Amino acid sequence: MNPRVLVGYVSVGGNTAETANILAAAAREAGAEVAGPVDLRGKSAELLIGHDGLLLGEPTWGEGAHHTDFAPFDDSMARLLEPGRALAGVRAAAFGGCDRAYRNFGRAIELIEDRLAACGALVVQQGLKIELAHNGHSRAFTRRWAQQFVARVAGRLEPQAYRPAMTRADADAVMGITPAQRRARDNAGLML
Ligand SMILES: Cc1cc2nc3c(=O)[nH]c(=O)nc-3n(C[C@H](O)[C@H](O)[C@H](O)COP(=O)(O)O)c2cc1C
Repeated sequence: MNPRVLVGYVSVGGNTAETANILAAAAREAGAEVAGPVDLRGKSAELLIGHDGLLLGEPTWGEGAHHTDFAPFDDSMARLLEPGRALAGVRAAAFGGCDRAYRNFGRAIELIEDRLAACGALVVQQGLKIELAHNGHSRAFTRRWAQQFVARVAGRLEPQAYRPAMTRADADAVMGITPAQRRARDNAGLML
């Protein structure tokens, strides 16, 4: 049977929204029955019930915190889903926009993963960090990430450890930036 996957997100500048759109389209192509992408602002966590897989995303905000538009949704997950571990048996992963200039790089993704796990969900894949804005490489990476997630929800692929979270170097690999290119950028930055 085709796995039912919900994609939910909050986004301000459009980076996380674009990721959500790519994920939903790629998951559909991979054979999932996809709900969304759903803009989670003003929504209740009950909408997470009844799916085999959940992909939730937001940009990290305010020095390693949830975005203010996602925080009420996280609160409703804690209130409505956590006590009965209502997401038991559900497979999940998180994604979001981030910026290496901040000390808590993409930390909101870990906060989402922790909440999903507390609600009983099994986090089956390392969280996806997209720094600032997509390029062709990150779009292709995101499509593959969605395909792997669908395979993990369907039980065709083993769960992947989601900790440690993606580092800045991992996020460069998502964007297709090589270590040499990163060094060159850093050096150029120092010369400014
Ligand atoms: C006020 C503010 C606080 C931020 N705090 C963080 C942070 O602590 N860690 C991080 O990795 N990125 C942080 N960012 C960067 C955003 O997460 C990043 O720009 C992201 O791509 C925005 O996603 P969006 O286009 O979906 O809104 C912050 C951005 C703003 C404007």
